[in-house]
Amino acid sequence: MKPLRSRFSKDAEELVQEYTGSIAFDQRLYRSDIAGSIAHARMLARQGIISDKNAELIVMGLVSIRQEIEEGKFVFRTELEDIHMSIEARLTEKIGPVAGKLHTARSRNDQVAVDMRMFVKEAIGQTIGGLRGLQRAIVHVAEANKDVVMPGYTHLQRAQPVLLAHHLLAYFEMFERDVGRFKDCLARTDVLPLGSGALAGVPYPIDRDFLAAELCFSKVGQNSIDAVSDRDFVIEYESAAAVAMMHLSRLAEELTLWSSAEFGFVEMDDAYATGSSMMPQKKNPDVAELARGKVGRVYGNLMGILTVMKSLPLSYNRDLQEDKEGLFDTVDTLLATLDVTAGMVNTMRVNPDRTARAAGESYCLATDLADYLGRKGLPFREAYSAVGELVAYAIQQSKALDELELSDYRSFSSLFDEDVYSITVDTSVAARDSLGGTSPVQVEAQLARARVILENEGGN
Ligand code: ARG
Repeated sequence: MKPLRSRFSKDAEELVQEYTGSIAFDQRLYRSDIAGSIAHARMLARQGIISDKNAELIVMGLVSIRQEIEEGKFVFRTELEDIHMSIEARLTEKIGPVAGKLHTARSRNDQVAVDMRMFVKEAIGQTIGGLRGLQRAIVHVAEANKDVVMPGYTHLQRAQPVLLAHHLLAYFEMFERDVGRFKDCLARTDVLPLGSGALAGVPYPIDRDFLAAELCFSKVGQNSIDAVSDRDFVIEYESAAAVAMMHLSRLAEELTLWSSAEFGFVEMDDAYATGSSMMPQKKNPDVAELARGKVGRVYGNLMGILTVMKSLPLSYNRDLQEDKEGLFDTVDTLLATLDVTAGMVNTMRVNPDRTARAAGESYCLATDLADYLGRKGLPFREAYSAVGELVAYAIQQSKALDELELSDYRSFSSLFDEDVYSITVDTSVAARDSLGGTSPVQVEAQLARARVILENEGGN
């Protein structure tokens, strides 16, 4: 007779075991599961629910099982359904029937809930670490290229000159918000469900505060029915991950574009690019492309868990087992994408000549000319029209703005003077000195702020 089948007259079909089992994927919860069981055994002994000696046997058994798993000696068997049953069955093999006392005042429903919360808490720490690593790479490239100008874009059309550092630091801000989202998620994940039993609580004098302290939870779940059926924390992690992956995909898209011959703004290090099987000259930005592409599965996983949870009645339902694979995949995908993107950004080479040339072309200084007329008293809308006509004329003459004669300028506004030629990409950038703007002074302030954030937070 298999475990948990005392009320049945026969074993489950093999197909059913395979269909319902989760051991193939939930084995990666083993560390949380064992930590939770050790805390539970200690609590049971402290409360006089089991003897100290039995608790000691149980704890020693669990520690040696953890070692077996870590040394790859543990055999995971499909018929044992999940990580909880697998560890319990092995504990029974090791210490005999005393193992059965561990499940006093506990259900797999609160057990799996605590395992998942511990897993997500750890994942949040790693994710914030990964985000910090990427932010550090961004700051590194921004600092190393402080004077580099490039065209800023709207509608993917060249708009106004900006500092490359300014553009990159926009990503620092996005990842800073991501850190905030994961920290918020941590606050709601950090609530202990253990001690809720199957759904209704347990008829033993347990100490849930002790469990929380042992397992480093700062709060204890206040409703046992909610505690076993809540997976908001999984949804929150996955939605924060979806936003972070969206940010990564925007960066990846820009780096893909920028490394094309058409832009030529950056070149990926050879270690972060791959070749083509047929075209020997190709150097493809596959890392950036995959970072862009992998956002799809992370969105998919979020949609998956939202759909699993939709209309799910209280309390525990087996549907909840479907929370795991998507979450694991999202954590793995996000952590890997953060790391590889940080490496790619850290090692890419910027081509300042290309970016500066692009910033000077395409009439990017037109707004500066309008502001010039505005400063001389012309209402901005009139200045805008005059410069619009001037640009149309220059395009028609196939000339850049600084190739036009002063008389050309004057035919559009008598306010134009010799000093119009002193408007350059550099003066344009320096002029945008409003808070958060692209002037070197403002960008230096943004860099300083970024450095303070990274220094103060250390790994977090
Ligand atoms: N493998 C299950 C899950 O992931 C563990 C909880 C099982 N509980 C139950 N009542 N069958 O949700």
